Amino acid sequence: MRLSLRFIVPLGIALTAIAYAVVPLVDRLTLQWFVRDLEIRSTTIANAAQEPLTALVREPRARQKVLRYFERIIQDERIFAIGFCDPAGKMLYATSTFPESVRCPQAGEAVSQSRLVQLERGPLHVSVNPVAAEGEALGELVIVHDMSFVQRRSEDTKKYIFYLFAAIAAVVALITVVIAEISWRGWVAGIKGLISGEAPLGARDGLGVTAPELRPIAKDLQALVRDLEAERHARDESQILWGPNVLRRILREDLKGDEVLIVSNREPYIHVRRKDNVIEIQRPASGLVTALEPVMRACSGTWIAHGGGSADRDTVDQQDHVMVPPEKPSYRIRRVWLSKEEEQGYYYGLANEGLWPLCHIAHTRPVFRAEDWTHYKSVNRRFADTVVDESRTEDPIVLVQDYHFTLLPRMVHERLPQATIITFWHIPWPNPEAFGILPWREEVLAGLLGSSIIGFHTQFHCNNFFDTVDRFLEARVDRETFSISHGGEPTEVRRYPISIEWPPSPLAKLPPVAECRTRVREQLGLGAEMLLGVGVDRLDYTKGILERFMAVERLLDLEPSWVGRFCFAQLAAPSRSSIDEYQNLDARVRALAERINRRFGRPGYDPILLRIEHYDASRVYELYRAADLCYVSSLHDGMNLVAKEFVASRDDEQGVLILSQFTGAARELPEALIVNPYDIEQSAVAIHVALTMQPGERRARMRTMRHLVQEFNVYRWAGRMLLDAARMRQRRRVMARTRAARRESRAL
Ligand code: G6P
Repeated sequence: MRLSLRFIVPLGIALTAIAYAVVPLVDRLTLQWFVRDLEIRSTTIANAAQEPLTALVREPRARQKVLRYFERIIQDERIFAIGFCDPAGKMLYATSTFPESVRCPQAGEAVSQSRLVQLERGPLHVSVNPVAAEGEALGELVIVHDMSFVQRRSEDTKKYIFYLFAAIAAVVALITVVIAEISWRGWVAGIKGLISGEAPLGARDGLGVTAPELRPIAKDLQALVRDLEAERHARDESQILWGPNVLRRILREDLKGDEVLIVSNREPYIHVRRKDNVIEIQRPASGLVTALEPVMRACSGTWIAHGGGSADRDTVDQQDHVMVPPEKPSYRIRRVWLSKEEEQGYYYGLANEGLWPLCHIAHTRPVFRAEDWTHYKSVNRRFADTVVDESRTEDPIVLVQDYHFTLLPRMVHERLPQATIITFWHIPWPNPEAFGILPWREEVLAGLLGSSIIGFHTQFHCNNFFDTVDRFLEARVDRETFSISHGGEPTEVRRYPISIEWPPSPLAKLPPVAECRTRVREQLGLGAEMLLGVGVDRLDYTKGILERFMAVERLLDLEPSWVGRFCFAQLAAPSRSSIDEYQNLDARVRALAERINRRFGRPGYDPILLRIEHYDASRVYELYRAADLCYVSSLHDGMNLVAKEFVASRDDEQGVLILSQFTGAARELPEALIVNPYDIEQSAVAIHVALTMQPGERRARMRTMRHLVQEFNVYRWAGRMLLDAARMRQRRRVMARTRAARRESRAL
């Protein structure tokens, strides 16, 4: 209604204004017409009266006759009076009605033929007509018409004009309102369609909406809606505090409770029989396990892994299952058994002497043995069979972890084509030249492309993967949609930077930072004032532990004042120790630590405290909290979760992180002191800077990093993968329905 008023009110005003302007015009025009009519009429009367009047005027004593003649003429209701003036301007004869104010034209006076005279009773039209006979002027016949009828007619005209305009206004308003209403409804429906996406841009005419007026804005509008949706989605994502509940909600609502299976080589809980025959549970030092375990606790699925612990077989049920975590069982592990030879070939051989150094640029040569490859293939097959065996449905979500299972995605896909297989690559992906030395590169790539989605930590690794597939396979690589099509099967390639749980569970059991500082210094035999740097890693050549120690040594060289005031505690969990490279590394790390300690140590002070042993999470978190700095010096690392753990442990917003530029984490945590670990001088300076950094700056850097790790925690990492899986499954269901409908319609 308000819209209609917007049309009607201005229309009414305009028409009223026009009517007001038109009325005087029409008035004047009609008056002119009437005056002209009266002039013609007067002339006609004068002409008709010419002859009789000439005769009567010449007759002596004809006054009465003339007057009677005049009285007859004014019988006409419009003629008000009539008079006759002699040439000298004297009124000779006039009807009794002749107004006094109307005079005869005087001799020599310029007389207008007709004029209007306004009297009290109303306007009169006076016309003066010469009367002549045989060339002799006899006088003037003055005819006076009553013009009051003009006034009456003018009033009537005004009334009709008003009615006319009112009628026009009503009709125009009605038409305008109806058309406006129809158009408005059409536009509203069209815009609603555009916004909801129900009226998409058509292929042929460019637009599927009904109102052609919307065409110019349709594309812009849809682009705007898309932008807003993306923004809202991003805002929603960033506003969600990702946690186990959000994951559970995704599983319940987006995945409708679909089955989740994880496949990894390393199991999250290892049962080990101690020398005293007691069974102990170990948590492995594995970034993969650190990230996935909290996710699995939220998802309650099945985790398929190699049962490598000495008491693993003693703790499973008949189906090789064990419920974990021991303190609050919420998901199950399905253990897969490997013979010594299989473990040697698949795990130590192909995975860790071949693929691991192949993917990490740490200048350790990969070793490729044909028998390792054979074991690798058969173990992948065994795990794939286990996935099929464990799956209760045709379309589980299978989360495949890491370089141990490059062939498994295709094997599972062949047997469970409806499964959504998400493979996450926890380590870097090298460039095609580096990857190209793998003798079985095509098989490995084709195996991975059995996945529905392949995830990497960074876009850089995604791009390397695209380049590698492009180089070695017959596949369509689409960097626009981040997908690869191989053998007609699509695989999406996505970046999912891994993270840790927030808040980290080990923190809950730990005392405040000050107490941790005291406790750790006591445990390590350090004075209360000793500044402490920490490193926490598996004993692996990719971690740059040697370079780290060298940087400490260089610091003590450059700034001897730190001797006795700073020491570096390194926890190194023994890893893959049957491999030569790892044994060599172990020896070199120990030797270097000893050499540095010999050089700078004093009684009661060793600058490097090396602990090569297994450690548990609470000990690590206590150490993080006690430290003044944490140095992550990986020579190459997919992400590195130690950096994120250190940040998460520092709820006092203190402590400085020194971080290698060759970790995925460096892209997310630029507030750390970023170093090139190969540059020993630079790293030594970074340690000095960290030790002398003002508390305010430490706080500012740590606070920003903590926000990032909190927001981008592991629940978000897993949640985004699961949401992508849900989207993919939804799309597949819609397409299946469309295909079925097409088949049905063809059959009819
Ligand atoms: C890296 C790998 C993981 C592996 C972990 C520990 O983080 O990406 O797959 O589990 O190292 O290595 P390990 O050989 O002991 O399992």
